[in-house]
Amino acid sequence: MCGIVGVLGDHEVSPTLVEALRRLEYRGYDSAGIATVNKGTLDRRRAVGKLVNLSDLLVHDPLPGKSGIGHTRWATHGAPTTGNAHPHQAGPVAVVHNGIIENFRELRTELREHGLSCTTETDTETVALLTQHHLAQGLDHVAAAFATLDRLQGAFALVFLFEGEDDLMIAARKGSPLAIGHGDGEMYVGSDAIALAPLTDRITYLAEGDRAVITRKTLDIMDEGGAAVSRPIKTIQIDATRIDKAGYKHFMAKEIAEQPTVLAGALASYVKDGTIHLPGEGVDFSKMQRLTLVACGTAFYACLTAKYWFEQLARLPVEVDIASEFRYRTPPIPAGTTALFVSQSGETADTLAALRYCAGKADRILSVVNVAESSIARDSDLALPIYAGVEVGVASTKAFTCQLNVLLLLALKAAVDRGEMTRDRQVELLTALNALPGIFNVALDRDAVIRKAARRIAEARDVLFLGRGLMYPLALEGALKLKEISYIHAEAYASGELKHGPIALIDKTVPVVVMAPRDSLFDKTVSNMHEVMARGGKVLLISDAAGAAEAGADVWQTIVLPEVPEVLSPLLYALPAQLLAYHTAIAKGTDVDQPRNLAKSVTVE
Ligand code: F6R
Repeated sequence: MCGIVGVLGDHEVSPTLVEALRRLEYRGYDSAGIATVNKGTLDRRRAVGKLVNLSDLLVHDPLPGKSGIGHTRWATHGAPTTGNAHPHQAGPVAVVHNGIIENFRELRTELREHGLSCTTETDTETVALLTQHHLAQGLDHVAAAFATLDRLQGAFALVFLFEGEDDLMIAARKGSPLAIGHGDGEMYVGSDAIALAPLTDRITYLAEGDRAVITRKTLDIMDEGGAAVSRPIKTIQIDATRIDKAGYKHFMAKEIAEQPTVLAGALASYVKDGTIHLPGEGVDFSKMQRLTLVACGTAFYACLTAKYWFEQLARLPVEVDIASEFRYRTPPIPAGTTALFVSQSGETADTLAALRYCAGKADRILSVVNVAESSIARDSDLALPIYAGVEVGVASTKAFTCQLNVLLLLALKAAVDRGEMTRDRQVELLTALNALPGIFNVALDRDAVIRKAARRIAEARDVLFLGRGLMYPLALEGALKLKEISYIHAEAYASGELKHGPIALIDKTVPVVVMAPRDSLFDKTVSNMHEVMARGGKVLLISDAAGAAEAGADVWQTIVLPEVPEVLSPLLYALPAQLLAYHTAIAKGTDVDQPRNLAKSVTVE
């Protein structure tokens, strides 16, 4: 959450900062701002709302300077106002911050005693004021910034810029990621490599607790204890950081449409000659006693789906939990447990904390991530990439199907490792999985009928999603997608739970989306569907041809998908759920790629 950037350039940096912020806007878009040092003078421009407001402001009120920092905000402390927007400046120092300074109240009191008072509601302002105080005490810039960092509790990525110093930035990371980019006679800092991709492909990732003193020609990194450390320069694949809409109206539309291609690519990376190949030393499931799966949001629903797969196919006991609950419940981790964390960004604060809780307790820490250089990937014993490519739309789509893909491959491997599935059956399912990208295209062709249904859904105040077995997590994911981008209240229930309470909600104003391929549980779900229809509920059934035929004529609308083996259905049924949410949001005129109150990478708890 919040994107930060810094540039020590050999040219005017305002346009570069704004362009880098554009690539970070997925992290938050409540306000944006930049500060530069120009001929020694520190100045800043800030604007509420989307980045475009800041670029408009800069047209009328440019900000010269060859060194600068920038920020795009997802508000934590203080409303999204210009005053609360970053960079925060206190006299000769400006800072941009991603994270939360937990002891900011205590610091405020202390600053007041020194005659320095806060003028904003933010936690970040205390960082600028404390550094100003340290400078006033006679410390040099580096010592002043480090003395401030010593006092901070919480999670942060910070960049400092100073009046009179146009060849100096200080950056620090604790709990929130930060990458340093190496240019030719220029240096950059960014929340991630994506922000810096047009500038350089040579990146140094700061490790937890690192502090960096950056000039145009030098980079000195100290660890938390103050010892000089060396961090490698990595060359990243610029292609992997390309972000454009490729002619689509929204990133979300493009990312939904990309799923056949990215799934095919991901499968090609994992399945060769009918055999599943995992990176590194792989995973041996034969002796595993228990698997703990932890994640947040959509990634959690991928884990919930995987629980069905691991338990049914491999008879492996699985515990699945939401990271924010898991980390504070401090559950016992019995010997023989492998812990697996799923995260698109690889930076989600709660998932990372849950992983760190398991380190040293679980036999092995695995992760399923989209960003190979992320904190979660780096803190894992083995990171399994999902190969979804950069996902920009705040609502996760292709990352979800690619997470499911890797988790299914693991479950199929586990099934054979544990003697619960024959190799022949595994090959059969892998062959079916390889055919799925083509079947995805057929599902995407249902766009027109889904758009039509979405126009009706858009009129509803509440929508229910129902599913049973493997379709239950999918129902949860469908409801999450719908609520986050259309702002329609949506809930999902396991079909069998309906009559234990939620059925009271049913009347003719509540559309009920039933996700039910003609699988082993279909008859049970159809009974629940009829209970809904008997009470006037309008059912939108997502099924296959056999299911649609059996469901009867009273169904309000049906979306018919191709038939696939039951075990693969979660991947396929994700697509109509995504399209339904997308078209409903379009019908409602909401901001699909940047829905209100959300951000893509949730680096605060
Ligand atoms: C929903 C969505 C979120 C994320 C969640 C975890 O569309 O994208 O629910 O799935 O914030 O994020 P990652 O996967 O980055 O850990």
